[in-house]
Amino acid sequence: MSNSQVPVITVDGPGGSGKGTITQMLARRLGWHLLDSGALYRLTALAAVRQRVSLDDEAGLVSVATGLDVSFLPSGESEPVRVILEGEDVTTEIRTEQTGENASRVAVMQPVRDALLQRQRDFRKPPGLVADGRDMGTVVFPDAPAKIFLTATAEERARRRYNQLKQAGVDVNINTLLEEIRARDERDMNRAAAPLKPAEDAQVIDSTGLSIEEVLDRCMAAAGQA
Ligand code: C5P
Repeated sequence: MSNSQVPVITVDGPGGSGKGTITQMLARRLGWHLLDSGALYRLTALAAVRQRVSLDDEAGLVSVATGLDVSFLPSGESEPVRVILEGEDVTTEIRTEQTGENASRVAVMQPVRDALLQRQRDFRKPPGLVADGRDMGTVVFPDAPAKIFLTATAEERARRRYNQLKQAGVDVNINTLLEEIRARDERDMNRAAAPLKPAEDAQVIDSTGLSIEEVLDRCMAAAGQA
């Protein structure tokens, strides 16, 4: 089977729409591979900070992105995939608000995106791939047979993030979170390079007010896997 014949379900949408949880559940249920493309942008940002490469230094960031030594290790049921950067487990560290913010800054640069493109396409292997991101259906896998755009209101996404952080013992202000989410949406949707938007052939699913199981069922149906 050539790579282009391997089925792909793309799941794009803003942060906090439930994409991460849903794509992991979809991949598990189908027994397919998983690409968390946001993690690659987060890793580029984290590696750049560690190597003291400025987040404005485009050429430096391209070289960081090209040289990323990263592996994703499957984990147990309901646990996040473990992310290893140069032999070190950075699963928790790449999820901080600061790294998310930095990722969104480096993701604006087209040459950085180009540097990560083939690495993302290499995840397409039999029996199939579930790809989580912002431009999976529009740029990285435009020929994917099933495309989903998962969304939720900014207020709902802020509430979810607030509950997640609270559970993890992190004290945050929900209004600050809401402002950060709005700012990140604004940057992701209005950038010139691969802006966040549904592919023309994507099915839009609004997860506001739905349980994870309800969203999963709708995604399976949208992907023709129900
Ligand atoms: O999805 P996640 O929050 O981990 O992504 C972090 C940032 O990486 C996003 O805010 C976005 O700017 C960028 N990103 C992107 N394209 C993708 C995935 C993530 O530009 N396919």
